[in-house]
Amino acid sequence: MKVKFSKKNISNKCLSDISKIIKSGWLTHGKYTKLFEEKFRKYTNSKYSLTVSSCTAGLHLSCIAAGFKHGDEIIVPAMTHTATAHAVEYTGAKAVFCDVDLVSGNLTIDNLKKKISKKTKGVILVHMNGGPCDFEQIKTFCDKKKIKIIEDCAHALGTKYKNKHVGNFGLSGSFSFYPTKQITTGEGGMIITNNKNFFKSIKKLKAFGIDKDIGERKKPGEYDVKMLGFNYRMTDFQSCLGLDQLQSYKKSLGKRQKIAKRYYQNFCRSNKIGQLKFSKQNSYFIYPIFVKKRDKLIKLLNKIHIGFSIHYPKIIPLMSYYKNKYRNKKSDYTNAINYANTNISLPVYPSLKNKEVDYISKKILTFINNEK
Ligand SMILES: Cc1ncc(COP(=O)(O)O)c(C=O)c1O
Repeated sequence: MKVKFSKKNISNKCLSDISKIIKSGWLTHGKYTKLFEEKFRKYTNSKYSLTVSSCTAGLHLSCIAAGFKHGDEIIVPAMTHTATAHAVEYTGAKAVFCDVDLVSGNLTIDNLKKKISKKTKGVILVHMNGGPCDFEQIKTFCDKKKIKIIEDCAHALGTKYKNKHVGNFGLSGSFSFYPTKQITTGEGGMIITNNKNFFKSIKKLKAFGIDKDIGERKKPGEYDVKMLGFNYRMTDFQSCLGLDQLQSYKKSLGKRQKIAKRYYQNFCRSNKIGQLKFSKQNSYFIYPIFVKKRDKLIKLLNKIHIGFSIHYPKIIPLMSYYKNKYRNKKSDYTNAINYANTNISLPVYPSLKNKEVDYISKKILTFINNEK
C-alpha cells in the first residue's frame, strides 16, 4: 500500500472558473480576491482580512505595521520555519530565539520570560502543526509589558484556543497556502486583524504604498505614494483556488480531526511513541509523533512508500545565518533540539482512509516494538 504525504481536492467547477479568469485577461484585482478575503474573515471570525503573496509576506508586513525596527528585539520560538525569524530581520530588528515546550513545540510563558530585555518590543507566536499556543498567561504578561504579539498561523487554519480562532489574539495572524498546508493557492497567504489602523497600514504596504485602490482613481495611474510599500498581492486565479478549498475545508476539518484521533488512539498502545493529547481545538496540519530512532524509521517509511515529513529537523537559531550573526548556543534550546531530533510528521488529509491510518500506525508500532 502506497500512501502520499499530502493530497488536495480541487472541484471541477473551480478548475473551470480558473480557466475563465485566465482567459478573461483580468488576472489580478478581481472579484475572487475580495470574495476569498470576505469568506476567510467570516470563517476566522475576524474584522479584517487581506490576501498576500505568502505567509512570509504577511509576517513581514505585520512586523512593519507593528513598528518593529532596528534596535528592537522580537522574540520568536526556536522551533519554527525560518520565515518567522526572517520577517523580523527584514525590518532591521533582532530575532531573539526562545526555547519551546517539549511536546507541543510552542513557545511557553516561562521560556518567554527568560528572554525579555528592555529592548523587547514584540513576540511572534507560532501554532506548531496546528496546535494552539497557550495564550492566556502569555497575553496577560505581554499586555502588561506593552509587548506586541504577532501570530504566525502558517499551520493553523481551523485552530482554536478556547473556541476562538487563532490569529485573533495578537495584532494580526498570518496564514500560509503553500501546497502542503490545509488549503493551498500554490504560493499565497492571508493576514487577519481586528485593528482598523493596522489593517489600513498593511493594505497600503501590500501594494507599493499607493494611497488609492484601482476603483478610487479618477484616471489610470492617478495616485500618490506615501510609504515604501511592496508588491505582495495574490492573483485572482489563486484566490479562486483558495476560495474553493476554504468552502470544502469547513467540512473536511472534522475529517482531519477524526484521522488524528485514530492515530492518537493507535499510538496510545505504546509508551515509546511521544504524542500530544488529542484535542478538537487542533486543526492537525499534520500528525506529529516523537521517536528515538528516527533515522531507522525514516528508512522503513521510505522503503514501504509511506509519505512523511519533518517539521523541523534543525532549529532556526542554529542555522548558519543566525548562529554566526548572534552566536546562539545549543544549551539555550534543549527542548527545541530534542523536538527537532525526534519529530516525524504523518499524513493528515480528508481523503486518507481509516485503513491507511491503521496501516501506517501498525507499521510504526511494529517497528518501535522490535527496536531495542
Ligand atoms: C511556521 C511557518 N511560518 C511561516 C511559513 C512561511 O509560509 P509561506 O511559505 O507561505 O511564506 C511557513 C512555511 O511553511 C511555516 O511553516
